[in-house]
Amino acid sequence: MNKNSNSRPIGIFDSGVGGLTVLNALKKQLPFENMIYVGDTARVPYGNKSEKLIQQYAREICDLLISLDCKMIVIACNTASSLALTYLRSSYALPIEGVIEPGVEEAIKHSRNKHIGVLGTHATIRSNVYESKLKKLNPDLMVTNQACPLFVPLAEEGWVDGEIPEKIAKYYLNPLVKNKVDTVILGCTHYPILKATITNILPKNVHLIDSAEVVAQKVKQILAQNKFATESKTEGHLECLVTDMPNQFSLVADRFVDFAIGEIKAIELH
Ligand code: DGL
Repeated sequence: MNKNSNSRPIGIFDSGVGGLTVLNALKKQLPFENMIYVGDTARVPYGNKSEKLIQQYAREICDLLISLDCKMIVIACNTASSLALTYLRSSYALPIEGVIEPGVEEAIKHSRNKHIGVLGTHATIRSNVYESKLKKLNPDLMVTNQACPLFVPLAEEGWVDGEIPEKIAKYYLNPLVKNKVDTVILGCTHYPILKATITNILPKNVHLIDSAEVVAQKVKQILAQNKFATESKTEGHLECLVTDMPNQFSLVADRFVDFAIGEIKAIELH
C-alpha cells in the first residue's frame, strides 16, 4: 500500500436514497474519511429483482468504486447484502461490509420476549438470510418476516407521512403486532426514512433496529484493523453519484441527511 493510501475513499452503494441512512451514520462517526456514494436510481428497486440481476448490478457498482480507488466498500443495501455479499467477497480482494449481521446482533441484544419481526424487500425476505442468521445465534427465537415493497417507492418519493403511508404501514405491520414481537429489524435501508410512521403504528414497547449506527461502528473497526483509517483532520470529501435523475435524488436526499450533500453527478454503469 502506498503512503497516501489511507486518504483513499470508502465506497458506499444502494439502489437509491436508502443507503443515505448508512452514509449519514458513517459521516458522523468517520467525519475525516473521503467517501463516494453510488445510488443506482436508474434500476431502483432491487427488491423485486432476481438474485442473478442483483449480483450483476452490485458487481458493476463495485467495479466502478474500485476503478475510483476505493479502499473498502460498504453495501448500504440489505437486498444486495442478502444476495450478493458472499459473491462480491469472493470476487474482490478489498474489504466489503454488508448491513445484515450488525442488525441481527443488535436485535438479539434488545429482544426480551425472543420474538423478532423482520421487515425487508421481497428479495431479502425470500432469501431468509435474517431468519437463518437470527436462529443460528439463538435457535429458540420466533421470527415474523414481512416484505414491505411499497415502502421503497414511498421513500424515493419522499412521501413518508400522512394517510397513505400510514395505511400501507398498518397493513404491513399488522402480522407483527398480532404476533407480539418486541423488536423489529428495519431490514431495508430505505425504511428508516419512514421511521416516524412505523413507530406510531407499533406498540410503545417495541424496539426498532436501524442498523446504520452499528454498521458505521463496524466500518470504523475494519479501518482500524487494516490500518487504513485516514490520518487527516479535515472534513472528508463526499462524491455522490447516481445512475439517473440527479435532481430528484437531490430533492429527497437533502431532507434525510444532516449534512450538505452538494453536487450530485449522473454516471453510467457498464
Ligand atoms: N435499500 C435497499 C435495501 O436495503 C434496496 C431497496 C430496493 O431497491 O428494493 O434493501
